[in-house]
Amino acid sequence: MSDATAKKEQRRKFQAIRGTRDLLPPETALWNRVEQTAHEVFATFGYGEIRSPIFEPTELFARAVGSDTDIVSKEMYTFESSEVPNLVELRTYYLSSDYAEDVFHGGSEDTVDLLSFATNVVGAFKKGALPQTSENLALVDDFLKKVSQIDATQRADVLKPFREVLHNFVRSVHLGDPTALRPEATASVCRAYLEHGMQSLPQPVKLYYIGPMFRRERPQKGRYRQFYQIGAEVLGGTDAPAIDAEVIEMLMTYFDKVGLHGATLYINSIGHNAENCRRGYVEKLKSELAKIKDNLGPDSQRRIDTNPLRVLDSKLESEQPYIEKLPRIADHLCDECKAHYAAVKRQLELRGLLYQENWRLVRGLDYYMRTTFEITAPGLGSQNAVCGGGRYDGLVELLGGPPTKGIGFAIGEDRLILSLQEGGKGAVEQGRDVYIAWMGEHAYAAAIRAAKDLRNAGFSVELPPVEQKFGKALGQADKLGAKYALILGDNEVAEGLWTLKTLLTGEQQKFPEPDLLEFLCQQKKVSS
Ligand code: HAM
Repeated sequence: MSDATAKKEQRRKFQAIRGTRDLLPPETALWNRVEQTAHEVFATFGYGEIRSPIFEPTELFARAVGSDTDIVSKEMYTFESSEVPNLVELRTYYLSSDYAEDVFHGGSEDTVDLLSFATNVVGAFKKGALPQTSENLALVDDFLKKVSQIDATQRADVLKPFREVLHNFVRSVHLGDPTALRPEATASVCRAYLEHGMQSLPQPVKLYYIGPMFRRERPQKGRYRQFYQIGAEVLGGTDAPAIDAEVIEMLMTYFDKVGLHGATLYINSIGHNAENCRRGYVEKLKSELAKIKDNLGPDSQRRIDTNPLRVLDSKLESEQPYIEKLPRIADHLCDECKAHYAAVKRQLELRGLLYQENWRLVRGLDYYMRTTFEITAPGLGSQNAVCGGGRYDGLVELLGGPPTKGIGFAIGEDRLILSLQEGGKGAVEQGRDVYIAWMGEHAYAAAIRAAKDLRNAGFSVELPPVEQKFGKALGQADKLGAKYALILGDNEVAEGLWTLKTLLTGEQQKFPEPDLLEFLCQQKKVSS
């Protein structure tokens, strides 16, 4: 690197990566309140918290969410998680265009390096440090066969015919397990349910989670690449419609407690994957879609083959008149699914929960069956779904477990916060309870003691680290939004009478040290 480039690099200002952001105070206080309310409300419904890893095998999401879904096929952040240090980085270097250029057009040294790297990879595979897949085994066998023809002298002209072979091998071999940042957590919860043998616990098992998810979507208001979900899953037990309704009841109770108003609940049933139910409907839908193909945009045209149900999700204005005329799944549900859906609606009504039916609510993940639901909230613009969920009875089985019922939801926490803020519910108390304005050595010792006692009693206290004139200290207390300033000079300490100033009114009172804490505690009680 030249000096100039190095200097430029040093001056580079870092910014959060596109689609990610810092959550800062005072807003984080609102995030904490929203999360605390989730802990409290979900506990009253008997849910326990699960914290699962934020990266998992790519295959887990491909299998659970579906490899044809946008989430898996376009939006996942994936990487190879190798057991051997530096192998992946070295491979990136060897496959870089500069290096490839040298290998194919340059001298012999680069090719010899590449051969030595490939030989190391083979060694690592043989030691069991690389994924022992049939694909890797075939690649290594083929490579060794071809390489056995290389002359031991490894002179450039001898290696020439093998450049392509070397390059292809290095490019194709799996150096580690394909791993993904989780785009959602339902798959992880099901994986954990199986991994920890939770089938043997009293069923159903009710779990909730709060944490970041990752999807490479086009960022906009309410849509981020790292976003947060508050989700809950019920696994095992029965598929009684009362469970579906109780999950939704918990959700609406939560929204109510957190202060979200104007949320609308949409529900649907997408049946199950049998010929006399969804599968039959999808066939019918496909043939109807084929008839209107020319009137659809490229995304919907592609989905006719890959995921026809998702066409119903389209927001493209020009497609709406055609989609509205398509056959509706409710008319094709089998008797069992029809009865289940009717019972879910009855159960919602029993709980006094208002809902709207939306026959086009199919959701963007493949694991759903029967009940699906979504909740929209005001103030969010086009990304107005604040929560999505549904039943996924086949998922645990799909992941290698026994037949297991499942239902759950995930709230988009970023969107919930936005909607609360837009609705004027986002204000959070800022500032300190007490700012300690001290001057003098003796006063500082008393100030440290006062800060400790006040903090132990739950007050937020600002204790300036260096002495400042009282005027400046009081200005600082104002700027920080403190309620009180405790004024401590050496005189106050000598007299044993401390001065407390109420910053809003300017009123000053003197207290003996022990009475001060009692006074503040009383004031706190009165104001709460
Ligand atoms: P989902 O509909 O993909 O479902 O996501 C749930 C919610 O997460 C959405 O309604 C939205 O509020 C929020 N969300 C999704 N993507 C983004 C993004 N890029 N930026 C901000 N917020 C976003 C699931 O994830 C399922 N796992 C839900 C579930 C749980 N179903 C059953 N159990």
